[in-house]
Amino acid sequence: MEGYALITGATSGIGLELARNFCRDKIPVILAARSEERLQELKKHLEESYNAHVVTVAVDLAKEEGPEMLYQAVKDLPVVFLVNNAGIGTFGRLANTAMADEVQLVKLNILALLKLTKLFVPAMVEHRSGYILNVASMAAFMPGPVMANYYASKAYVLSLSEALHEELKSQGIRVTALCPGPVRTNFQERAGIQKKPSAQRFMLEAKAVADEGYAGLWKGKAVVIPGTFSKVMPALLGFLPRSLRRKAAWLSQKE
Ligand SMILES: NC(=O)c1ccc[n+]([C@@H]2O[C@H](COP(=O)([O-])OP(=O)(O)OC[C@H]3O[C@@H](n4cnc5c(N)ncnc54)[C@H](OP(=O)(O)O)[C@@H]3O)[C@@H](O)[C@H]2O)c1
Repeated sequence: MEGYALITGATSGIGLELARNFCRDKIPVILAARSEERLQELKKHLEESYNAHVVTVAVDLAKEEGPEMLYQAVKDLPVVFLVNNAGIGTFGRLANTAMADEVQLVKLNILALLKLTKLFVPAMVEHRSGYILNVASMAAFMPGPVMANYYASKAYVLSLSEALHEELKSQGIRVTALCPGPVRTNFQERAGIQKKPSAQRFMLEAKAVADEGYAGLWKGKAVVIPGTFSKVMPALLGFLPRSLRRKAAWLSQKE
């Protein structure tokens, strides 16, 4: 397959494991994240481990000009796979969290994903070929008291992805939403999430999540929910009236 895979948030967690999948299959990668130092370390590692072709772009995608900067940096390379993975969380009652953190979340989880999709899709449409993998979350299926903004952002990602899956199918482009439950990465600590010790047991490994997402992307699945237990959750939630769903979400978060 000719063409590059552009992966945002590729320097740790799920993004890093997705990058490994592309490198293993000899697909050249463009890795984007903020830390230049970490990107250079990873480039060296992937080149040595997989003999991979790796391009890096250090960019803050939450900044107004971030997505356009990334696009301009790579616009001469054929991007066949767009992986919108970079995302952050916030934790706490919305009345108490910092305004800047909540706005940053929307800019990264929603706006950057939208802008990158708009920037890269026209060339895919022109060539009638492309894959988009948007990293949503199980959070997309329900409201999330104490992580309200994060859950709402992932509902956006899932809804947008499913709509685009239908819109772009006839133009040769496959759009997949990856919806994992909690995953052992830097995400939880960065977001300041306080998990009950019992909840730690149900956390997924980033590699397993990325592997399922990668396989789902190739199959052109609309939605991929990694893990056996998680797969039944959306169906179970679907049986509950919305009023019960949000109450259950609230009770599960209470200390
Ligand atoms: N971990 C979970 O429990 C879980 C569950 C479901 C879904 N998800 C979703 O999975 C995705 C990946 O999360 P993860 O768990 O792998 O988290 P992670 O280990 O914290 O990785 C986040 C990645 O995003 C990059 N990033 C953060 N802010 C950025 C910005 N402003 N601009 C560009 N890059 C930025 C980070 O690098 P720099 O800091 O160097 O920029 C890093 O490479 C997210 O969309 C998250 O919402 C996670």
